[in-house]
Amino acid sequence: MPTAQRALAAAPAKPKRTLENRINDLAWKDWLLFQKSFFHLADDESLYGGLIQFFTKQYAPEGRLTRVMAITVSDERPAIAAHGRMLFRETVAPADIGQWHYDETDFTLFDFIVVDMRHSGAVLAGQAAEHAAHVRQFLANCRAVLKEDGFCVLLSQEVTTDAGRYPLPWVLSSLARQSFRLRDERIGLLAADDAAPTYVNVLQAIQEIGPVHAELPTLHVGVPAIREQWVKPKPKPRSKKEILHPAKFPEELVQTFVQELTEADAVVFDPMGGTGSTAVAALDAGRRAVIIELGDAWADIARTRVADAGRARPERWEVLHGDARDAAALIPADFQPVAYTVTSPPYWRILHNPGMHVSDEGQKARQAKGLRTTYSESDADLGNVKDYRQFIDELAGIYDCCADVMAPGRVLTIVTKNVKFERAQYPIAWDLVFKLCGDAGRFEYAGTTFWCQDDVGLKPFGMGCDWISNILHNYCIHLRVRG
Ligand SMILES: C[S@@+](CC[C@H](N)C(=O)[O-])C[C@H]1O[C@@H](n2cnc3c(N)ncnc32)[C@H](O)[C@@H]1O
Repeated sequence: MPTAQRALAAAPAKPKRTLENRINDLAWKDWLLFQKSFFHLADDESLYGGLIQFFTKQYAPEGRLTRVMAITVSDERPAIAAHGRMLFRETVAPADIGQWHYDETDFTLFDFIVVDMRHSGAVLAGQAAEHAAHVRQFLANCRAVLKEDGFCVLLSQEVTTDAGRYPLPWVLSSLARQSFRLRDERIGLLAADDAAPTYVNVLQAIQEIGPVHAELPTLHVGVPAIREQWVKPKPKPRSKKEILHPAKFPEELVQTFVQELTEADAVVFDPMGGTGSTAVAALDAGRRAVIIELGDAWADIARTRVADAGRARPERWEVLHGDARDAAALIPADFQPVAYTVTSPPYWRILHNPGMHVSDEGQKARQAKGLRTTYSESDADLGNVKDYRQFIDELAGIYDCCADVMAPGRVLTIVTKNVKFERAQYPIAWDLVFKLCGDAGRFEYAGTTFWCQDDVGLKPFGMGCDWISNILHNYCIHLRVRG
Protein backbone atom coordinates (compact mmCIF):
# COMPACT_ATOMS: atom_id res chain seq x y z
CA MET A 1 0.00 0.00 0.00
CA PRO A 2 1.48 3.47 -0.88
CA THR A 3 2.46 5.52 2.19
CA ALA A 4 -0.27 8.15 1.84
CA GLN A 5 -2.99 5.52 1.64
CA ARG A 6 -1.52 3.65 4.64
CA ALA A 7 -1.63 6.87 6.65
CA LEU A 8 -5.26 7.43 5.71
CA ALA A 9 -6.24 3.90 6.65
CA ALA A 10 -4.46 4.25 10.02
CA ALA A 11 -6.08 7.58 10.98
CA PRO A 12 -8.75 7.05 13.66
CA ALA A 13 -12.26 7.82 12.43
CA LYS A 14 -13.27 11.34 13.50
CA PRO A 15 -16.25 11.00 15.86
CA LYS A 16 -19.38 12.46 14.23
CA ARG A 17 -21.08 15.10 16.35
CA THR A 18 -24.73 14.22 16.24
CA LEU A 19 -27.29 16.58 17.67
CA GLU A 20 -30.11 14.78 19.43
CA ASN A 21 -33.57 15.82 18.25
CA ARG A 22 -35.85 15.70 21.29
CA ILE A 23 -38.89 17.36 19.69
CA ASN A 24 -39.63 15.50 16.45
CA ASP A 25 -38.32 13.10 13.79
CA LEU A 26 -37.72 15.73 11.09
CA ALA A 27 -34.58 16.20 9.00
CA TRP A 28 -32.80 19.46 9.97
CA LYS A 29 -33.66 21.21 6.71
CA ASP A 30 -37.39 20.58 7.29
CA TRP A 31 -37.03 21.74 10.89
CA LEU A 32 -35.47 25.00 9.73
CA LEU A 33 -38.23 25.68 7.20
CA PHE A 34 -40.86 25.23 9.91
CA GLN A 35 -39.09 27.86 12.02
CA LYS A 36 -39.96 30.62 9.59
CA SER A 37 -42.70 32.63 11.27
CA PHE A 38 -44.95 32.83 8.22
CA PHE A 39 -45.87 30.28 5.57
CA HIS A 40 -48.15 29.84 2.60
CA LEU A 41 -51.18 27.85 3.65
CA ALA A 42 -52.10 25.22 1.06
CA ASP A 43 -54.86 23.16 2.74
CA ASP A 44 -55.93 21.66 6.08
CA GLU A 45 -54.10 18.42 5.42
CA SER A 46 -50.70 20.07 5.09
CA LEU A 47 -51.47 22.46 7.97
CA TYR A 48 -52.28 19.63 10.39
CA GLY A 49 -49.58 17.35 8.95
CA GLY A 50 -46.92 20.04 9.44
CA LEU A 51 -48.00 20.67 13.04
CA ILE A 52 -48.20 16.99 14.06
CA GLN A 53 -44.84 16.22 12.49
CA PHE A 54 -43.12 19.24 14.02
CA PHE A 55 -44.50 19.06 17.56
CA THR A 56 -44.33 15.29 18.10
CA LYS A 57 -42.09 12.29 17.60
CA GLN A 58 -43.89 9.17 16.44
CA TYR A 59 -42.99 7.39 19.69
CA ALA A 60 -42.96 8.82 23.21
CA PRO A 61 -39.76 8.16 25.27
CA GLU A 62 -41.49 5.24 27.07
CA GLY A 63 -41.99 3.47 23.72
CA ARG A 64 -45.76 3.96 23.18
CA LEU A 65 -47.21 5.76 20.18
CA THR A 66 -47.58 9.50 20.66
CA ARG A 67 -51.11 10.68 21.50
CA VAL A 68 -52.47 13.69 19.60
CA MET A 69 -55.80 15.39 20.36
CA ALA A 70 -57.51 17.52 17.67
CA ILE A 71 -60.37 19.62 19.06
CA THR A 72 -62.59 21.40 16.54
CA VAL A 73 -64.69 24.22 17.96
CA SER A 74 -67.54 23.94 15.44
CA ASP A 75 -69.51 21.19 13.71
CA GLU A 76 -66.89 20.88 10.98
CA ARG A 77 -64.40 18.03 11.18
CA PRO A 78 -61.48 18.58 8.81
CA ALA A 79 -59.96 15.35 7.44
CA ILE A 80 -56.74 14.80 9.39
CA ALA A 81 -54.14 12.09 8.74
CA ALA A 82 -52.65 10.53 11.89
CA HIS A 83 -49.05 10.37 10.53
CA GLY A 84 -48.45 7.19 12.52
CA ARG A 85 -49.56 8.74 15.84
CA MET A 86 -52.69 7.89 17.88
CA LEU A 87 -55.16 10.57 16.87
CA PHE A 88 -58.17 11.50 19.02
CA ARG A 89 -60.94 13.84 17.86
CA GLU A 90 -63.36 16.05 19.79
CA THR A 91 -66.00 18.44 18.46
CA VAL A 92 -67.21 21.28 20.69
CA ALA A 93 -70.13 23.63 19.96
CA PRO A 94 -68.76 27.20 20.28
CA ALA A 95 -71.61 28.34 22.52
CA ASP A 96 -70.84 25.47 24.93
CA ILE A 97 -67.09 25.77 25.29
CA GLY A 98 -67.37 26.80 28.95
CA GLN A 99 -68.86 23.37 29.72
CA TRP A 100 -66.50 21.20 27.66
CA HIS A 101 -64.07 18.84 29.35
CA TYR A 102 -62.56 15.56 28.23
CA ASP A 103 -64.77 12.99 29.92
CA GLU A 104 -62.76 9.79 29.58
CA THR A 105 -61.50 8.54 32.92
CA ASP A 106 -58.20 6.77 33.46
CA PHE A 107 -56.40 7.85 30.28
CA THR A 108 -52.83 8.81 29.42
CA LEU A 109 -52.29 12.56 29.04
CA PHE A 110 -51.98 13.83 25.46
CA ASP A 111 -48.59 14.72 24.01
CA PHE A 112 -49.90 17.43 21.72
CA ILE A 113 -53.22 19.25 21.27
CA VAL A 114 -54.49 21.26 18.29
CA VAL A 115 -57.55 23.43 18.88
CA ASP A 116 -59.14 24.59 15.65
CA MET A 117 -61.25 27.71 16.19
CA ARG A 118 -61.31 28.95 12.61
CA HIS A 119 -64.90 28.04 11.77
CA SER A 120 -66.76 29.62 14.65
CA GLY A 121 -65.13 33.04 14.85
CA ALA A 122 -68.26 35.16 15.21
CA VAL A 123 -69.67 33.14 18.15
CA LEU A 124 -66.25 32.94 19.80
CA ALA A 125 -65.73 36.69 19.41
CA GLY A 126 -69.00 37.22 21.31
CA GLN A 127 -67.98 34.66 23.95
CA ALA A 128 -64.54 36.23 24.38
CA ALA A 129 -66.01 39.73 24.73
CA GLU A 130 -68.89 38.82 27.07
CA HIS A 131 -67.95 35.52 28.71
CA ALA A 132 -64.16 35.56 28.84
CA ALA A 133 -64.33 33.24 31.88
CA HIS A 134 -65.89 30.50 29.68
CA VAL A 135 -63.04 30.75 27.17
CA ARG A 136 -60.50 30.68 30.00
CA GLN A 137 -62.20 27.61 31.50
CA PHE A 138 -62.17 25.80 28.15
CA LEU A 139 -58.45 26.48 27.71
CA ALA A 140 -57.76 25.41 31.29
CA ASN A 141 -59.58 22.13 30.54
CA CYS A 142 -57.38 21.62 27.46
CA ARG A 143 -54.32 22.19 29.64
CA ALA A 144 -55.62 19.63 32.16
CA VAL A 145 -55.36 16.76 29.62
CA LEU A 146 -51.97 17.75 28.16
CA LYS A 147 -48.70 16.40 29.53
CA GLU A 148 -46.40 18.82 31.39
CA ASP A 149 -44.19 20.62 28.81
CA GLY A 150 -46.50 19.55 25.94
CA PHE A 151 -47.41 21.97 23.17
CA CYS A 152 -50.92 23.17 22.37
CA VAL A 153 -51.64 25.06 19.16
CA LEU A 154 -54.60 27.40 18.62
CA LEU A 155 -55.77 27.94 15.04
CA SER A 156 -57.89 31.06 14.55
CA GLN A 157 -58.53 34.07 12.34
CA GLU A 158 -59.62 37.66 12.70
CA VAL A 159 -63.39 38.01 12.53
CA THR A 160 -65.40 40.56 10.62
CA THR A 161 -68.33 41.62 12.82
CA ASP A 162 -71.00 44.29 12.22
CA ALA A 163 -68.72 46.78 13.98
CA GLY A 164 -65.52 45.94 12.09
CA ARG A 165 -62.59 43.57 12.29
CA TYR A 166 -62.06 41.88 15.66
CA PRO A 167 -58.59 40.43 16.46
CA LEU A 168 -59.86 37.13 17.88
CA PRO A 169 -56.47 35.29 17.78
CA TRP A 170 -54.87 37.92 20.05
CA VAL A 171 -57.75 37.75 22.51
CA LEU A 172 -57.83 33.93 22.63
CA SER A 173 -54.07 33.66 23.07
CA SER A 174 -54.02 36.34 25.77
CA LEU A 175 -56.80 34.52 27.66
CA ALA A 176 -54.87 31.22 27.30
CA ARG A 177 -51.94 32.67 29.27
CA GLN A 178 -53.78 31.93 32.53
CA SER A 179 -53.15 28.22 31.84
CA PHE A 180 -50.24 28.05 29.40
CA ARG A 181 -47.05 29.88 28.54
CA LEU A 182 -47.40 31.78 25.27
CA ARG A 183 -44.45 30.60 23.21
CA ASP A 184 -44.74 31.90 19.69
CA GLU A 185 -46.84 32.32 16.58
CA ARG A 186 -46.85 31.43 12.88
CA ILE A 187 -48.91 33.22 10.31
CA GLY A 188 -50.48 31.16 7.49
CA LEU A 189 -51.02 33.26 4.36
CA LEU A 190 -53.52 32.46 1.63
CA ALA A 191 -52.61 33.26 -1.99
CA ALA A 192 -55.02 36.21 -2.16
CA ASP A 193 -53.48 39.10 -0.24
CA ASP A 194 -56.89 40.25 1.01
CA ALA A 195 -57.84 36.88 2.55
CA ALA A 196 -57.66 36.62 6.36
CA PRO A 197 -54.44 34.85 7.45
CA THR A 198 -54.63 31.88 9.81
CA TYR A 199 -52.87 32.41 13.14
CA VAL A 200 -51.05 29.40 14.53
CA ASN A 201 -50.52 30.39 18.16
CA VAL A 202 -48.15 28.10 20.04
CA LEU A 203 -48.71 27.53 23.78
CA GLN A 204 -46.81 25.27 26.13
CA ALA A 205 -48.00 23.51 29.30
CA ILE A 206 -45.54 25.23 31.62
CA GLN A 207 -45.72 28.20 33.98
CA GLU A 208 -46.16 31.54 32.18
CA ILE A 209 -43.35 34.00 32.89
CA GLY A 210 -44.40 36.73 30.47
CA PRO A 211 -46.82 39.61 31.13
CA VAL A 212 -50.42 38.43 31.64
CA HIS A 213 -53.52 40.64 31.54
CA ALA A 214 -55.81 40.17 34.54
CA GLU A 215 -58.70 41.45 32.39
CA LEU A 216 -58.78 42.31 28.70
CA PRO A 217 -60.41 45.63 27.75
CA THR A 218 -63.49 45.86 25.55
CA LEU A 219 -62.02 46.74 22.17
CA HIS A 220 -63.31 49.47 19.87
CA VAL A 221 -63.10 48.11 16.33
CA GLY A 222 -63.89 49.63 12.93
CA VAL A 223 -63.80 48.87 9.22
CA PRO A 224 -60.39 47.85 7.84
CA ALA A 225 -58.23 50.74 6.67
CA ILE A 226 -56.20 48.77 4.11
CA ARG A 227 -57.33 46.01 1.73
CA GLU A 228 -54.10 43.99 1.83
CA GLN A 229 -53.76 41.61 4.78
CA TRP A 230 -50.16 40.79 3.90
CA VAL A 231 -47.45 42.33 1.72
CA LYS A 232 -43.96 41.27 0.72
CA PRO A 233 -42.22 44.40 -0.55
CA LYS A 234 -38.93 43.94 -2.36
CA PRO A 235 -36.72 46.62 -0.81
CA LYS A 236 -33.77 48.17 -2.63
CA PRO A 237 -30.40 47.34 -1.00
CA ARG A 238 -29.58 49.88 1.72
CA SER A 239 -27.14 52.71 1.01
CA LYS A 240 -24.01 53.23 3.15
CA LYS A 241 -25.78 55.90 5.22
CA GLU A 242 -28.97 53.87 5.71
CA ILE A 243 -27.07 50.81 6.93
CA LEU A 244 -25.67 52.81 9.88
CA HIS A 245 -29.18 52.65 11.45
CA PRO A 246 -30.03 49.30 13.12
CA ALA A 247 -33.69 49.03 12.04
CA LYS A 248 -34.92 50.89 8.98
CA PHE A 249 -38.15 49.95 7.22
CA PRO A 250 -38.47 49.94 3.41
CA GLU A 251 -40.00 52.91 1.58
CA GLU A 252 -41.85 50.40 -0.62
CA LEU A 253 -43.86 49.25 2.43
CA VAL A 254 -44.90 52.77 3.42
CA GLN A 255 -45.80 53.81 -0.09
CA THR A 256 -48.61 51.23 -0.34
CA PHE A 257 -50.25 52.72 2.75
CA VAL A 258 -49.61 56.37 1.86
CA GLN A 259 -51.21 55.90 -1.55
CA GLU A 260 -54.30 54.16 -0.16
CA LEU A 261 -54.84 56.46 2.80
CA THR A 262 -53.99 59.98 1.63
CA GLU A 263 -54.63 62.36 -1.22
CA ALA A 264 -52.06 64.47 -3.16
CA ASP A 265 -50.24 67.11 -1.04
CA ALA A 266 -51.58 65.65 2.24
CA VAL A 267 -49.20 65.75 5.25
CA VAL A 268 -47.68 62.41 6.30
CA PHE A 269 -46.08 62.25 9.77
CA ASP A 270 -43.62 59.88 11.48
CA PRO A 271 -42.92 60.61 15.19
CA MET A 272 -39.89 58.27 15.26
CA GLY A 273 -38.49 58.97 11.83
CA GLY A 274 -35.09 57.20 12.00
CA THR A 275 -33.39 57.58 8.62
CA GLY A 276 -36.40 59.36 7.13
CA SER A 277 -37.93 56.44 5.17
CA THR A 278 -41.51 57.65 5.76
CA ALA A 279 -40.68 61.14 4.53
CA VAL A 280 -38.86 59.84 1.44
CA ALA A 281 -41.80 57.55 0.57
CA ALA A 282 -44.34 60.35 1.13
CA LEU A 283 -42.44 62.89 -1.00
CA ASP A 284 -41.96 60.33 -3.78
CA ALA A 285 -45.74 59.80 -3.74
CA GLY A 286 -46.41 63.55 -4.09
CA ARG A 287 -47.31 64.17 -0.43
CA ARG A 288 -45.75 66.52 2.14
CA ALA A 289 -43.84 65.07 5.09
CA VAL A 290 -42.88 65.87 8.66
CA ILE A 291 -40.86 63.61 10.95
CA ILE A 292 -39.41 63.77 14.46
CA GLU A 293 -36.30 61.81 15.46
CA LEU A 294 -34.58 61.73 18.85
CA GLY A 295 -31.08 60.70 17.75
CA ASP A 296 -29.19 63.64 16.23
CA ALA A 297 -27.03 61.39 14.02
CA TRP A 298 -30.17 59.70 12.61
CA ALA A 299 -31.91 63.04 12.15
CA ASP A 300 -28.88 64.27 10.14
CA ILE A 301 -29.00 61.19 7.89
CA ALA A 302 -32.74 61.68 7.46
CA ARG A 303 -32.28 65.37 6.56
CA THR A 304 -29.81 64.50 3.78
CA ARG A 305 -32.02 61.73 2.37
CA VAL A 306 -35.23 63.75 2.60
CA ALA A 307 -33.60 66.82 1.00
CA ASP A 308 -32.66 64.60 -1.97
CA ALA A 309 -36.20 63.22 -2.23
CA GLY A 310 -37.69 66.71 -1.75
CA ARG A 311 -35.92 67.87 -4.92
CA ALA A 312 -35.11 71.39 -3.71
CA ARG A 313 -38.65 72.07 -2.43
CA PRO A 314 -37.90 72.67 1.27
CA GLU A 315 -41.43 73.95 1.92
CA ARG A 316 -42.75 70.38 1.42
CA TRP A 317 -40.90 68.71 4.32
CA GLU A 318 -39.59 69.11 7.88
CA VAL A 319 -37.11 66.87 9.72
CA LEU A 320 -37.30 67.78 13.40
CA HIS A 321 -34.77 66.73 16.01
CA GLY A 322 -36.54 66.05 19.30
CA ASP A 323 -38.75 63.85 21.45
CA ALA A 324 -41.98 62.52 19.92
CA ARG A 325 -43.74 63.29 23.22
CA ASP A 326 -43.59 66.97 22.16
CA ALA A 327 -45.17 66.38 18.72
CA ALA A 328 -47.96 68.96 18.98
CA ALA A 329 -45.50 71.71 20.00
CA LEU A 330 -42.75 70.74 17.53
CA ILE A 331 -44.78 70.33 14.31
CA PRO A 332 -45.15 73.72 12.55
CA ALA A 333 -48.72 74.98 12.16
CA ASP A 334 -48.67 74.68 8.35
CA PHE A 335 -48.02 70.90 8.71
CA GLN A 336 -51.07 70.41 10.96
CA PRO A 337 -53.49 68.69 10.98
CA VAL A 338 -51.65 65.58 9.85
CA ALA A 339 -53.54 63.40 7.32
CA TYR A 340 -51.76 60.11 8.05
CA THR A 341 -49.17 58.92 10.57
CA VAL A 342 -47.00 55.87 9.93
CA THR A 343 -44.19 54.83 12.23
CA SER A 344 -42.13 52.05 13.68
CA PRO A 345 -41.09 52.28 17.33
CA PRO A 346 -38.15 50.53 18.99
CA TYR A 347 -39.28 46.92 19.50
CA TRP A 348 -38.91 47.42 23.26
CA ARG A 349 -35.29 46.63 24.23
CA ILE A 350 -34.85 43.78 21.76
CA LEU A 351 -31.77 45.43 20.24
CA HIS A 352 -30.06 44.83 23.61
CA ASN A 353 -30.47 41.07 22.98
CA PRO A 354 -28.25 40.57 19.91
CA GLY A 355 -28.37 36.76 19.86
CA MET A 356 -32.12 36.57 19.38
CA HIS A 357 -32.90 39.48 17.12
CA VAL A 358 -33.24 38.60 13.44
CA SER A 359 -32.31 41.80 11.64
CA ASP A 360 -31.57 42.19 7.94
CA GLU A 361 -27.83 42.05 8.42
CA GLY A 362 -27.74 40.26 11.79
CA GLN A 363 -26.82 41.96 15.04
CA LYS A 364 -23.59 39.99 15.45
CA ALA A 365 -22.46 40.93 11.94
CA ARG A 366 -23.18 44.59 12.73
CA GLN A 367 -21.06 44.37 15.90
CA ALA A 368 -18.21 42.82 13.92
CA LYS A 369 -18.34 45.70 11.40
CA GLY A 370 -18.35 48.30 14.20
CA LEU A 371 -21.92 49.42 13.35
CA ARG A 372 -24.31 50.57 16.08
CA THR A 373 -26.69 47.90 17.37
CA THR A 374 -28.86 50.22 19.48
CA TYR A 375 -30.33 53.67 18.76
CA SER A 376 -28.82 55.75 21.59
CA GLU A 377 -28.00 55.91 25.29
CA SER A 378 -30.70 58.52 25.94
CA ASP A 379 -33.25 57.94 28.73
CA ALA A 380 -35.90 59.42 26.42
CA ASP A 381 -35.21 56.64 23.87
CA LEU A 382 -38.06 54.09 24.06
CA GLY A 383 -35.57 51.37 23.12
CA ASN A 384 -33.87 51.82 26.51
CA VAL A 385 -36.94 51.43 28.75
CA LYS A 386 -36.29 48.32 30.86
CA ASP A 387 -39.76 47.51 32.17
CA TYR A 388 -42.16 46.14 29.53
CA ARG A 389 -45.37 47.61 30.98
CA GLN A 390 -43.69 51.00 31.29
CA PHE A 391 -42.56 50.69 27.66
CA ILE A 392 -46.14 49.98 26.46
CA ASP A 393 -47.56 52.84 28.57
CA GLU A 394 -44.95 55.36 27.38
CA LEU A 395 -45.28 54.32 23.75
CA ALA A 396 -49.07 54.49 23.92
CA GLY A 397 -48.62 57.99 25.40
CA ILE A 398 -46.64 58.98 22.29
CA TYR A 399 -49.41 57.68 20.01
CA ASP A 400 -51.94 59.69 22.01
CA CYS A 401 -49.77 62.74 21.18
CA CYS A 402 -50.12 61.73 17.50
CA ALA A 403 -53.91 61.74 17.89
CA ASP A 404 -53.57 65.38 19.07
CA VAL A 405 -52.31 66.44 15.63
CA MET A 406 -54.77 64.35 13.55
CA ALA A 407 -58.46 64.81 12.78
CA PRO A 408 -60.97 62.11 13.86
CA GLY A 409 -61.27 59.31 11.29
CA ARG A 410 -57.62 59.62 10.19
CA VAL A 411 -55.32 56.59 10.39
CA LEU A 412 -52.17 55.82 12.36
CA THR A 413 -50.17 52.77 11.21
CA ILE A 414 -47.74 51.22 13.72
CA VAL A 415 -45.15 48.81 12.31
CA THR A 416 -43.95 46.48 15.07
CA LYS A 417 -43.29 42.87 16.08
CA ASN A 418 -44.21 40.57 18.92
CA VAL A 419 -40.82 39.74 20.41
CA LYS A 420 -39.17 37.07 22.54
CA PHE A 421 -36.91 38.02 25.38
CA GLU A 422 -35.32 35.67 27.93
CA ARG A 423 -37.68 32.74 27.14
CA ALA A 424 -40.87 34.80 27.38
CA GLN A 425 -43.09 36.21 24.65
CA TYR A 426 -43.92 39.93 24.66
CA PRO A 427 -46.82 40.60 22.27
CA ILE A 428 -46.08 44.28 21.67
CA ALA A 429 -48.54 44.54 18.78
CA TRP A 430 -51.46 43.10 20.73
CA ASP A 431 -50.72 44.95 23.97
CA LEU A 432 -50.52 48.30 22.18
CA VAL A 433 -53.94 47.74 20.61
CA PHE A 434 -55.43 46.60 23.94
CA LYS A 435 -54.13 49.85 25.45
CA LEU A 436 -54.97 52.25 22.60
CA CYS A 437 -58.36 50.83 21.56
CA GLY A 438 -59.94 50.12 24.97
CA ASP A 439 -62.54 52.44 26.51
CA ALA A 440 -59.83 54.77 27.79
CA GLY A 441 -57.98 54.84 24.43
CA ARG A 442 -58.28 57.35 21.61
CA PHE A 443 -58.32 54.92 18.65
CA GLU A 444 -60.33 52.10 17.12
CA TYR A 445 -58.68 49.02 15.63
CA ALA A 446 -58.87 49.05 11.81
CA GLY A 447 -57.06 45.82 10.88
CA THR A 448 -53.52 44.57 10.36
CA THR A 449 -51.37 44.18 7.26
CA PHE A 450 -48.50 41.72 7.77
CA TRP A 451 -45.17 42.81 6.32
CA CYS A 452 -43.51 39.46 5.52
CA GLN A 453 -39.74 39.50 5.04
CA ASP A 454 -38.60 36.95 2.49
CA ASP A 455 -35.12 38.46 2.14
CA VAL A 456 -33.69 37.46 5.54
CA GLY A 457 -31.73 34.19 6.08
CA LEU A 458 -33.09 31.59 8.55
CA LYS A 459 -31.21 30.83 11.77
CA PRO A 460 -31.33 27.43 13.60
CA PHE A 461 -32.48 28.78 17.00
CA GLY A 462 -33.05 26.02 19.59
CA MET A 463 -32.77 23.28 16.96
CA GLY A 464 -33.50 19.82 18.36
CA CYS A 465 -34.63 20.97 21.81
CA ASP A 466 -37.09 23.85 21.57
CA TRP A 467 -39.48 25.75 19.31
CA ILE A 468 -38.11 29.23 18.71
CA SER A 469 -39.23 30.80 15.45
CA ASN A 470 -37.36 33.24 13.25
CA ILE A 471 -39.74 36.20 13.50
CA LEU A 472 -39.94 37.41 9.91
CA HIS A 473 -43.39 38.98 9.96
CA ASN A 474 -44.05 42.49 11.24
CA TYR A 475 -47.48 43.74 12.22
CA CYS A 476 -48.58 46.94 10.46
CA ILE A 477 -51.47 47.80 12.78
CA HIS A 478 -53.92 50.34 11.43
CA LEU A 479 -55.77 52.45 14.02
CA ARG A 480 -58.34 55.15 13.37
CA VAL A 481 -58.60 58.24 15.61
CA ARG A 482 -61.94 58.11 17.43
CA GLY A 483 -64.24 61.16 17.26
C1 LIG B 1 -37.43 51.37 14.43
S1 LIG B 1 -36.59 52.86 14.38
C2 LIG B 1 -37.41 53.75 13.09
C3 LIG B 1 -36.75 53.55 11.78
C4 LIG B 1 -37.41 54.31 10.65
N1 LIG B 1 -38.76 53.84 10.42
C5 LIG B 1 -36.57 54.16 9.37
O1 LIG B 1 -37.05 53.55 8.43
O2 LIG B 1 -35.43 54.63 9.38
C6 LIG B 1 -37.12 53.69 15.82
C7 LIG B 1 -36.58 55.09 15.98
O3 LIG B 1 -37.21 55.71 17.12
C8 LIG B 1 -36.29 56.65 17.65
N2 LIG B 1 -36.77 57.04 18.98
C9 LIG B 1 -36.71 56.36 20.14
N3 LIG B 1 -37.29 57.06 21.13
C10 LIG B 1 -37.75 58.22 20.58
C11 LIG B 1 -38.45 59.34 21.09
N4 LIG B 1 -38.79 59.44 22.39
N5 LIG B 1 -38.78 60.34 20.23
C12 LIG B 1 -38.42 60.29 18.91
N6 LIG B 1 -37.73 59.25 18.38
C13 LIG B 1 -37.42 58.21 19.20
C14 LIG B 1 -34.97 55.89 17.61
O4 LIG B 1 -33.86 56.78 17.67
C15 LIG B 1 -35.07 55.15 16.27
O5 LIG B 1 -34.42 55.85 15.23
